[in-house]
Amino acid sequence: MIFVNFKTYPQGTGFEALKLVKILEEVAHEAQIKIIPVLQSTDIKEAQIATTLEIWVQHVDPVEAGAHTGFILPEAVLEDGAMGTFLNHSEHKFVNFDDLKKASVRATQVGLKTLIFADGIEELKKVIELKPNFVSYEPPELVGSATTSVATAHPDIISEAANLSHGFGIPLIVGAGIHSMDDVRKSLELGAVGVAVASDIVKSEDPKKEILDLIEGFK
Ligand code: G3P
Repeated sequence: MIFVNFKTYPQGTGFEALKLVKILEEVAHEAQIKIIPVLQSTDIKEAQIATTLEIWVQHVDPVEAGAHTGFILPEAVLEDGAMGTFLNHSEHKFVNFDDLKKASVRATQVGLKTLIFADGIEELKKVIELKPNFVSYEPPELVGSATTSVATAHPDIISEAANLSHGFGIPLIVGAGIHSMDDVRKSLELGAVGVAVASDIVKSEDPKKEILDLIEGFK
């Protein structure tokens, strides 16, 4: 499976986001592979109407309905059509572990699946305790890299992360700098069940070509 994180790239925002979702949908159906677009909360509703793909949101906040100006309420994105949420991405960390825990509990309570990111083995051990649907290992220094991927730079950590997460029955996703079928193949060989990718696809002039290339790594 491939999580495509649209971040706040212009190519992944608003109307452009919808165009990219349609491209991912076409490829997912053609190749019979699970591709999950992970969108800004503001684009969930339109995307959900436009596609049959499972849509996720990039973040929710640890809040209940009420006086919380500007926060993302888990119920709101669920109602718009999100099926799951990223939590604790290195670009959107919680102030402390308690807030992450609260957001994870709230998301699960309302019926959103969760993927929680960890920047290394120590953080992974902590986030596993929250029993998310997926954990993801992403070394922050490689996020957005066009030259070096997590698979080439940290194969040993991916293996360790896979052993750890599988021991708790939680599938591992890896991300950061993924940009080739070899990155995908290596990640799977090391024990990941899928990848999270952003810039290689979202910033590409030809996203379809890029995603088709990554998919080769699953064959
Ligand atoms: O969530 C995936 C993302 O952080 C990876 O970004 O640009 O390195 O593929 P990128």
